[in-house]
Amino acid sequence: MNSSFSQIQVEIRRLADEKGIVILAHNYQRGEIQDVAHFTGDSLQMAKFAVQTSGSAILVCGVRFMAETAAILNPRRHVYIPEPDAGCPMANMIDENTLRRLRLENPTAVVVCYVNSSAEVKALSDICCTSSNAVRVVASIPKEKPVLFIPDQNLGGFVKRSLNRENMILFPGYCHVHNYLNVKSIKELKESDPDSILLMHPECTQEALKLADHIASTGQMIEFVKKSQAKSFIIVTEREITYPLKKANPDKKFIHPDPPLLCPNMKLTTIQKVLEAVKSPAHRVTVSESVRISAVQALNRMLEV
Ligand code: 13P
Ligand code: SF4
Repeated sequence: MNSSFSQIQVEIRRLADEKGIVILAHNYQRGEIQDVAHFTGDSLQMAKFAVQTSGSAILVCGVRFMAETAAILNPRRHVYIPEPDAGCPMANMIDENTLRRLRLENPTAVVVCYVNSSAEVKALSDICCTSSNAVRVVASIPKEKPVLFIPDQNLGGFVKRSLNRENMILFPGYCHVHNYLNVKSIKELKESDPDSILLMHPECTQEALKLADHIASTGQMIEFVKKSQAKSFIIVTEREITYPLKKANPDKKFIHPDPPLLCPNMKLTTIQKVLEAVKSPAHRVTVSESVRISAVQALNRMLEV
């Protein structure tokens, strides 16, 4: 156990280890939650970890779709979330009925579904993707097949441009945290520190992404910074990502836009709620078996790419 843990973190780890609860945290979680977690990562890394963990239960510190993904991949383990109201507004932008209608309107299209979506929507999709593998996933689909990309138009647009693939239909969903960036202020940040490397998440708009030196998922940003010789980075995604970046690279400088990008749903989880969840896990995340059986196929296809 980490010797710099606070009393509450020691208690969380003690209870979790005693009960066989594995704690997963997303890179946007508060720093003290990232520290206490057994594993921290991006959406793809969390999904992969959830498949191979040996714990008897999983506590997902993140938003609901991340816990649902863990539940879909782990039918024999109980999956919990510390804060049941932590959702992803983008995931709620498309529902099953809308997707059923879109499938009827585009009968030959392969449906590629960003994991930021409900279990029911995944179940109606052909293959899932995350921000770190979306280009690879779409590239794995024969070129002549049209692709219906849901729900993030920005990630979908990034893939479309990267692959120069005209036959992609983009659902008009977006992340409110990344979509409304002040592009002018990012430009000014870059001008004021021209030697810095500008890293952006593909949920940002096309106009913003044009400025980026490198476009990456949160996990890929961490890898990029670790390997880079550069000393200064402008980080354009949710603010908390600078926590693991600073921790792993104390000699490097990280600049974040002002005002910061904050995901209010990610911030609903507090260390106190994590303690309550390991003391008496109350908020179990379940997926009906009929939905799970279809959704797991879309997730497994992604994991195989
Ligand atoms: P990552 O998979 O890059 O961590 O992204 C998840 C997310 O919700 C970004 O807003
Ligand atoms: Fe959803 Fe955006 Fe929050 Fe990510 S940052 S969880 S996409 S609302």
